[in-house]
Amino acid sequence: MPENASPSKAGSPLDSLKAVFALPNNHPNKIIAVAVALCLVCSLIVSAAAVGLRPLQERNESLALKREILKVAGLYEPGLDIEQAFKRLDVRLVELDTGEYVSGVDATAFDMRKAAADPAQSLALGNDDDLARIRTRANTMPVYLLRDGEELKSLILPVYGYGLWSTMYALLALEPDGRTVADISFYDQRETAGLGGEVANPRWQAGWSGKQLVDAQGVPVFRVAKGSVDPATPAAGSQVDGLSGATLTSNGVTNLVRFWMGDLGYGPYLQRVRDGRGG
Ligand SMILES: Cc1cc2nc3c(=O)[nH]c(=O)nc-3n(C[C@H](O)[C@H](O)[C@H](O)COP(=O)(O)O)c2cc1C
Repeated sequence: MPENASPSKAGSPLDSLKAVFALPNNHPNKIIAVAVALCLVCSLIVSAAAVGLRPLQERNESLALKREILKVAGLYEPGLDIEQAFKRLDVRLVELDTGEYVSGVDATAFDMRKAAADPAQSLALGNDDDLARIRTRANTMPVYLLRDGEELKSLILPVYGYGLWSTMYALLALEPDGRTVADISFYDQRETAGLGGEVANPRWQAGWSGKQLVDAQGVPVFRVAKGSVDPATPAAGSQVDGLSGATLTSNGVTNLVRFWMGDLGYGPYLQRVRDGRGG
C-alpha cells in the first residue's frame, strides 16, 4: 500500500483499528484516531477517579459537618476524634408539623437536602410562605441535643435559606429555653467574599450569642439590623449588626431565621421544648 493511502476494506473493527494505527504518524486518519483514543482513555480515568473517590468525599463531607456541629455545641478542640466526640450528642428527627420526635429511625443517616428535593418527603412552599426562598421544606429535620445527664444543655438546629447568590446553610445552637442563641455557624454559602460572604466571619457570628430569636408568644422577632445595632433600641436583644455593603444577604439571613423559627419551621418543636415536652 502506498505510504499515505487510507486502509482498504477491512474485516472486523479490530482489523480497521490495526490498519489505522499502521498508517504513518502524519496521516490525518491516524492523528484523529490517536486524539479520539487519548480522549477516551482520559475520560475513563476521570470517571473512574470520580466514582472511586465519591465514598471518600462523602465521608469527608460528613466529618466536616460533624466538626461544625461540635463547634457550635462548644465541644470541639483541635485533634479531637470527631466520630467519638459526636457520640455525646443525641441526634433526633423532628416531624416539623407536629414538633414531635420521629421514633424508630436512624436520624444520623438522614439527608435533609435529599428529603427536601423529594416530593414524597417534603412540603412545597407557596410564595407567601417561602420566606427563606427554599421552595420546598423537608417534612422532618434533624436536631442535635447536648445533655449533661438528664439536663438539656443546648439544641442545635440546621437552618438554611437564600441570600443574594446562594443558599446559605447554618447550624443554630440554642439555649435550653428554645429562644436564645448560644452560637451559630454559616458553614456552606457562596455569597461574595468580603460582602455577603462575611456571614462566615467568626467575628460577626460572635455577635449572635445571647440574642432572642422569638418573643414571649414564640413569634420570630430576630433581625439583622441595617448598620450597627443601636443598644438603646428595645429590639437590640433580638438584632445583630448588618453586613456592610451586603443588605441583600443580611435580609436573607433575617428571613431564613424567621422562617425556621416560625410555624413552618421548628416553631411547633420549639414550643414543645419551651413547654418542657421536648428536649
Ligand atoms: C460584584 C458584586 C457582588 C456583590 N455581592 C453581594 C453579596 O454577596 N451580598 C449582598 O447583599 N450584596 C452584594 N452586592 C451588593 C448588592 O448588589 C447591593 O448593592 C447591596 O446588597 C446593597 O447593600 P448596602 O445597602 O449595604 O450597600 C454585590 C455587588 C456587586 C457589584
